[in-house]
Amino acid sequence: MKLLRRLTTKIIRANNRLLVGFISLKMKIKQENIILTSDIELKTLLKMQHVKLMYGSVVSGNSDIGEYTYIGRYSEVCECKVGRYCSIGNWVSIGIGDHDINKVSTNSIFMEDPLKTLNSSSVSIGDDVWIGTKATVLRGVTIGRGAVIGAGAVVTRDIPPYAIAVGVPAKVLKFRFDSEKIKKIEESKWYNEDSTGAKKIINMLASELESND
Ligand SMILES: CC(C)(COP(=O)(O)OP(=O)(O)OC[C@H]1O[C@@H](n2cnc3c(N)ncnc32)[C@H](O)[C@@H]1OP(=O)(O)O)[C@@H](O)C(=O)NCCC(=O)NCCS
Repeated sequence: MKLLRRLTTKIIRANNRLLVGFISLKMKIKQENIILTSDIELKTLLKMQHVKLMYGSVVSGNSDIGEYTYIGRYSEVCECKVGRYCSIGNWVSIGIGDHDINKVSTNSIFMEDPLKTLNSSSVSIGDDVWIGTKATVLRGVTIGRGAVIGAGAVVTRDIPPYAIAVGVPAKVLKFRFDSEKIKKIEESKWYNEDSTGAKKIINMLASELESND
């Protein structure tokens, strides 16, 4: 706790209940391989290792952020699973709440349990996914390992592994590699290694996979 120079506890009012315990760390902390300059709930913070959250980004409590992932400035990750080695750009929004459009009012004050209702569908981002600046990933979406989401995209549907998807709504433009190369990457399972082990495997694969054929 020595490094925590300022801790502020916020009180959130939801469904007439006070939820106390949302800890907002508004300061720069460097501890245990986490670089944090952002807002995050303590329970999420405690789960993370080797994660970099840039200034102004927000990660909600039940999110799960994989090792070696970084999240750019002013990005928001809400109740979702993000894999290892992901690169998430600035001003990216992932998994923000879905209001039920079939109700008389979409306003969350009329919901029994707003947090549960708004985040009812899951969001999953695979390992080594790169999400470009200002992209939005809606709830209910799964993005496969190794995929790339172009700047400004709005992802409304699942994106397959190693696809490059752009636009509004995001459509697959192409795949990063042919199926043979994807198979080799998958067999190597580099993304399960720590950064030293991953680097070794990637270097071994690089000359073969990055050649122009
Ligand atoms: C998605 C991306 C990686 C594609 O790169 P690429 O494979 O080199 O694609 P190209 O530049 O060859 O473009 C192919 C086509 O897709 C279009 N396109 C590329 N990126 C696009 C985007 N983000 N949104 C909409 N269309 C896009 C191009 O206009 C082009 O269309 P055309 O064939 O009709 O001319 C890149 O454009 C991008 O968006 N990068 C994100 C950068 C970023 O946000 N960085 C943050 C740092 S973490």
